[in-house]
Amino acid sequence: MYQPISIVNVYYRGFGAKRLIGKLTMDGRRPTFGYDAAWLADGLELSPIEMPLRAAPYYGTHASSHYLCGLLSDSLPDGWGMLLMDRFFRKFMDSSAQQVSVLDRLAYIGDSAMGALSFEPEHDLSDTIDTGELTLAKLAAANQSILSGQDSDILAELIVIGGSPQGARPKALVLYDKSSDFITTDLTRDYSSATPWLIKFPAQSEHKSVCLLESLYADMAKQSGLNMPAHHYFDIGEKSAAFGVERFDRIGSQRVHIHTLAGLLDIDFRIPSIDYLQYLRCVRMLTQSQVAVEAAFRHAVFNVIFNNKDDHSKNFSFMMDETGRWSLSPVYDIAYNSGMNGYHQMDVAGEARHPTLSHLLKLAKLADIKQNKAQAIIEQVTSVAKDFLTMINDHDIEKELSNRVIHDIEANINRMAS
Ligand SMILES: Nc1ncnc2c1ncn2[C@@H]1O[C@H](COP(=O)(O)OP(=O)(O)O)[C@@H](O)[C@H]1O
Ligand SMILES: [Mg+2]
Repeated sequence: MYQPISIVNVYYRGFGAKRLIGKLTMDGRRPTFGYDAAWLADGLELSPIEMPLRAAPYYGTHASSHYLCGLLSDSLPDGWGMLLMDRFFRKFMDSSAQQVSVLDRLAYIGDSAMGALSFEPEHDLSDTIDTGELTLAKLAAANQSILSGQDSDILAELIVIGGSPQGARPKALVLYDKSSDFITTDLTRDYSSATPWLIKFPAQSEHKSVCLLESLYADMAKQSGLNMPAHHYFDIGEKSAAFGVERFDRIGSQRVHIHTLAGLLDIDFRIPSIDYLQYLRCVRMLTQSQVAVEAAFRHAVFNVIFNNKDDHSKNFSFMMDETGRWSLSPVYDIAYNSGMNGYHQMDVAGEARHPTLSHLLKLAKLADIKQNKAQAIIEQVTSVAKDFLTMINDHDIEKELSNRVIHDIEANINRMAS
């Protein structure tokens, strides 16, 4: 019989460590997190802006992260993963337990969160063979069938298993070896040259060429000087495709702590609430690095010129090394996106719809980037975009989509002329 979980221990698992960070409990209907005394004494500052080390407990601020504080809300999956989890809870929990708490969700996620945190319900498992928590863990394990083999077969099978509900981009976490095309969903074993990858499939309503386009955008990001991990376009058949990217929150089997901008500031990523200047200031504050601020500015320029208007606060992240030093994560979710009503989620010096050269230069100025440096970055990205327009029609992108991409990028390039 399923029992709601009342305490979840939160561990730091970065770079092979396993150390208790603190405990998550419920205070009435609100989850609350407190750092452990030993972690307070000499632990890393995992979330320095909104959750600095202190004895008093923390509460989250908004419903879309289930009122979980920012450090922990980054471990919850968004759309697709949440949907799978809900499906799991509906299938295996009796109807009286429909109201699963966020503690149940984290216990379900266990060791498999992105980043470096892991979650364990607090009790001695050997004494509680029949408790809901153990059932939950067992069921979760049983729910994950393992697939291994050549990429085209396995990815086709993953699509069938996952289904493709409207609106959400299905994803899979795999180990992948590009040189041999070997792929497996078994993340627990060491497959020599295979490394951890994230695979994104199109949503049911989308044409397969969105994956090819995301892959071309990844190429363009790299050519524009952004830090883009290894990536690959998988052509699975007449109607199916996927985009794969190597994970930066794993180094082999080691885990790396990642914080999204949304988690770091504990803000709701669905509501536009910060702008690029605030983002660049966070980059400076965390990394103390002019090079990182300029790299983040380059990312902003890319998003403007290549029309990536899905630039919300969960699409930017920071990562922490073994010693507690922060850097920018590589870029991700670099895709054509026409935005909500044509607006960027983060505005550029006050302009969210049609940022121009002068908006970008003003942003650079406010963020303490030299104007000639900013000019050079804008020119480089513009030149990559011009080359892209000459070759996009060589690729098999759905015509209606490629026409929109060309139209929008041309207009953005024109706005870069002074
Ligand atoms: N290369 C990567 N390594 C590690 N985590 C990643 C990587 N790419 C994306 N992510 C994480 O996975 C989440 C979903 O990926 P994203 O490309 O943003 O998909 P979607 O298009 O569904 O938003 C991101 O918010 C980020 O936290
Ligand atoms: Mg995203």
